[in-house]
This record gives sequence, C-alpha cells and structure tokens, in this order.
Amino acid sequence: MTDRHYRMPVTINNEDDNHPSNPSAGPTMTDLIAQRVSRRTALKGLLASAALGAIGVGTGALRPAQAAMGLSFTEIPHAFDENLHIPAGYTANPFLRWGEPIIAGAPDFDAATRDAAAQAQQFGYNCDFVHFVPLPEGSNASDHGLLVVNHEYTDAHMIFAGFADGKAALAATTAEMAAYEQAGHGLSVVEVKKEATGWTLVKDSKLNRRITLATEFELVGPVAGHDRVKTSADASGTKVFGTMNNCAGGWTPWGTILSAEENTHQYFGGDPSSTAEAANAKRMGIKGEPSYAWGKFDDRFDVSKEPNEPNRFGWIIEVDPYDPASKPVKHTALGRFKHEAATTVINSDGRLVVYTGDDERFEYIYKFVSTGTFDAAKGRANSALLDDGTLFVAKLDAEGKVTWMPLVHGEGELTEANGFKSQADVLIEARRASDLLKATKMDRPEDIETSDKTGKVYVVLTKNDKRKADQVDAANTRAENKWGHIVEMVPPMVDGKADHAATSFTWSAFIQAGNPADTAQGAAYGGAVTDAGWFANPDNVAFDANGRLWISTDGFPDHGVHDGLWVTETEGEGRAITRHFLGCPRGAELCGPAFTPDGKTLFVAVQHPGDEDGSNFANPTTRWPDFKDGVPPRPTVVAITKDDGGDIGA
Ligand code: FEO
Ligand code: CA
Ligand code: CA
Repeated sequence: MTDRHYRMPVTINNEDDNHPSNPSAGPTMTDLIAQRVSRRTALKGLLASAALGAIGVGTGALRPAQAAMGLSFTEIPHAFDENLHIPAGYTANPFLRWGEPIIAGAPDFDAATRDAAAQAQQFGYNCDFVHFVPLPEGSNASDHGLLVVNHEYTDAHMIFAGFADGKAALAATTAEMAAYEQAGHGLSVVEVKKEATGWTLVKDSKLNRRITLATEFELVGPVAGHDRVKTSADASGTKVFGTMNNCAGGWTPWGTILSAEENTHQYFGGDPSSTAEAANAKRMGIKGEPSYAWGKFDDRFDVSKEPNEPNRFGWIIEVDPYDPASKPVKHTALGRFKHEAATTVINSDGRLVVYTGDDERFEYIYKFVSTGTFDAAKGRANSALLDDGTLFVAKLDAEGKVTWMPLVHGEGELTEANGFKSQADVLIEARRASDLLKATKMDRPEDIETSDKTGKVYVVLTKNDKRKADQVDAANTRAENKWGHIVEMVPPMVDGKADHAATSFTWSAFIQAGNPADTAQGAAYGGAVTDAGWFANPDNVAFDANGRLWISTDGFPDHGVHDGLWVTETEGEGRAITRHFLGCPRGAELCGPAFTPDGKTLFVAVQHPGDEDGSNFANPTTRWPDFKDGVPPRPTVVAITKDDGGDIGA
C-alpha cells in the first residue's frame, strides 16, 4: 500500500504519516561522524562496481550496457495517463480482475451491487503479491498453474457509490459494507492456463480458493496458546479467523506460499490506553483511530473489549495452494510487526532462512534461521521448520558490516526486567525487543529477494521523508528521503556457497533512486541511466530466470511519473543500471511481479488504479481496464508475454 501524497485518504491511514511508531533514541554524534566516513565508502563501492563511472542521464539510445544484459526491448518513456504501457512487441492481458467469479457458482461481477457473499467467491480487491505455482505439482510447467495473489486492503471510496473520504463517511459504514470489505481482503488461489488466445482463468476449478477474514487459521509456534493471544472467542489462543493487509510474500521449497500481514493496526478501533496491552498497541500504531469501521459490528476489532485480538495479527502466514481444504497457519516464530516479504533460502547447511522486513519509517530488517534442516522427502511436514529457530534483527554499520542480532529471551536486554517473561513476549513485541538491541532504523523496508546466481540479498527501502539531517546513517544516507534506495547484502561463502545463516554479512549501497539530473537528490546508479531509466520508490522486486532484478514502484506519482516496472542486471556491465519496462494507469502502484519458470510470462498486479486525491467511485482518474461508464477501475493481475514467444525482456 502506498502513502500517496497525490491522494491522502482519511479512510486509509496505512502508515501513520506524521507519527512513526518507533520512539527509541536516534544516532549519537559518534554515529554521525562514522556515517560521514561510511557514506563515502558506500558510494565508492557503488561506483567502483560500475563499468561506466559517470552518474547521469543518458540519451535514451540503446547503450552497450543494455546489449550486455541481453535486453532487446525498447524502453518506454516516463508518462502519467489512463493507460497501462508496455514496450512494442509485447502483449498485456488484464485477465484477472477484482470481482471476477472464481469459485463454482459465484455470480459475475456487477459494477452496481456490493454483495459480501458474492465477493467471498470472487477475486478480491487491491492485488499485491503474486506467485505462480506449476500444475501438476512437482512439474516445471509454465503454461498451467495456480496463481496465488494477496488482496492487501479495500478502498471504500472507490468501491461504494456515494462514499466520500473522511471520518463522517467512515461512521456511515454499514454492517453490509464492512462484510464486503472483509470478503475483499485475504488471498485468492486461481487455476490459470495459457491458451492460444492468451492466459485465462479456469473459473470453476476445484483448486480455486478464497481466503478472507472468515477463514480459520491455526496459530503455531512459540506464541500459540499464550495468554496474550487468548480472547473471549478463543480460550485456546490458537484459533484465529482471517488474515489482513497481506502485502509482499514468498514461497517455500515444499510448495506452499508465505504471506506477510503488514498494516494490521488500522483495523482496530477502541481505546487501548487503559488495557494491559497499551504500550504494545502504541508501538504498533493502534490508537483508536481505525481506517475501517469493523469494530462497530464485531467486538474483536474493538481493543477496549478485546485487547489481545491485535496480537493474533502481524505474522507471516502459510497457505498450501495445492490443497483448498487445508487450514492455513500463522507462524509466530518469525515475529510480529508490520511484515513485508518472506523470502526463503535453503542454506548451504540445509537450514531454512527467511528474510522479512518491517515496513514503516525507522523500522528494521529481520531474518529467521531454522533449527532443523530441510528434507525434501518430508514434503509439507517441512513447515515445522518455521516454528523452531532463531529470529535475528539487522544492524548495518559504517564499516559495511551487517550484524544479525538474535532476539532470544533471556539474552542481553531481553529479560523479565525489561518486561519479557518468555520468548512469546519477545516475538509479540519484536519491535520493542529490536529497539533494545539498537538495530538499524531503515527507510521503510519493503521487499527482500535473494539472487540464486550470486547468493546476494537485495533489501528494498521505499522512502522515508521523515528522516531528519541528524538522523541519517551509513545505510540511510539521505535526509527527507523521498526516493528510496536498495541495499545489497553479501553473506560469507562457505565451500563456494552463500552462508545465509551467518551472523555477520557485508553490505553496500546498490542503487540510490531518484533523478540523477537533479544532483540535489543524491541519486546514484551503476552508470548512466536514460531519461526513462531512473525511478523512485522501489517496492516489490523479483529475479527472472536470467538473474536480472525487476523492480516495481509505489509512489513515483509524487514525482510526476506513473508507477511501474524497471529492470537491471546485478552483476557486470549492466549492474545497477535500470531500464523502464512497464508503466501503470494513473492512480495505481505496481505489485507482483512474478515469472513463470520459463521466464516467458510475467504477471504483475495493478493496485488501486484511478485512486488519486479527490477520486471516488463516480470520479476515478481512469476506468482501466474496462473503460466503461459506470464501471469503476478494477485492481487487476495482468499477464505479459512477448509476441515472438521469447523471454520477457530479452
Ligand atoms: Fe504494503 Fe509495504 O507495502
Ligand atoms: Ca506498496
Ligand atoms: Ca509493498
């Protein structure tokens, strides 16, 4: 979800714009002196890796770096209009739209009516993370599979006719509207096929599934059954209905999907200040100013009545896409915060490592390392790896070292004296635990991906316009960072393989986003980028089969340009030199991206099209993709293929 400056909805308070939740102390003067040294070091590292030393705006002509990347597409220009833009020679098929019936018996999308029971059987709203799993399971099929898609949140003013922004409008939310919103959240699993005419969904497939706020989950791991996750409705502390604000995600080596519960604070009304969870609620941004009116109709979304319910959200969840009857789980060993991404790696020693971030200004980067090792013969039972292990939080120092600090009860500051009676307390309040360990406060960690080819880890920081000059550090070098950046972490090598479980990595700056023609922005790429090649506000990223990094953006309209997709090599001549592949219809951010195993189809999710400052159901800034009067713009997953059947980008 964006925090669009070009549209500031009162009904969606995703990030708490003016009050980041992290109150812990900023850097000391010693830190600042160290940072000046390291800033030079970090930038030097970035420049040294570039074959072309100059940072600047190129001519737009196909340069040697692009040829070296094997990229043959003609870069599209920056724009900002009602349409989706892709390079010549490619086809975009917006085939999976909000409201599309996916479960057998579901009604067709009706632009004029909002029926919660129908929405619970249709494709949900605001698609974010997308992943393709092949069918049959175990195959490498690239023309038949399941798409798993997160539905991050709902925009009432874009969904309901006559619903304006503002608290008065929120107060006008009816029980029926709240039920529709809850049905629009969650995930979809949809069988898809590549036909001669393009990608289509298999409408009544038995594998199709909707997960919503009504779906039963099992809470597992160290927090399961703890008093702080028990509620009036669930004395066991293990049975939770629903998931929400699912943003980026990941997948496991055993065929399941992980999804990150991000801004869960905004669904809880009531006043937490007089409850036992007051400090915890405050640190998570729960303060009685919800963006949804659900608490009016259901006590569990009113923290005055159910102060523990928020402790049952903010986790990494796991869904088995191949079994629509399976009960999804919430893995508490990975900590509770505003999760973004869950990227798994089987480490060189067989242990499972999961990278995940906390997407808010001045929050942290985490990784989980399992105790046990992956065993392919165990299949789905490998899921237990996610319930027994160590959660670490990252410190990035001025010398280019990453120290992964364990969040383990009883060690260091994480003791009863500081309010942590058990590991469950450490995990429920992972943010406060990380504050005490003095982890590095980042510029909003979004997606994290690892390169299969090099073992390097790419951490996307989307922006932080609240960072002041005296708060800059080696890893977050710009005050009022409106553009975002990408950090590259390098694990140590053991016998030629990356050791992702190691407690010490190195790091350097990979890209400082922004327009290099405006030197005041401090943008830095691996070499000259074209007029269209620079970007801002990186969010979701994905590697393709050729090892190239695809970067989607969320917030570029603040800089007058559509959000979209850029691509770069991470090694060699084209390293950190981005090229522009796709542009969104106005009002939208771009999510996904995801590739089929053969690299010949790219799926992207266009989220909140037409939603800008002043937009509403009757007055969107685009009606993409239907372009019919009376039909609102629809968040949609788009399949992109190359007309000659070749690899995307090349
Ligand atoms: Fe939902 Fe952090 O983007
Ligand atoms: Ca986003
Ligand atoms: Ca995101």
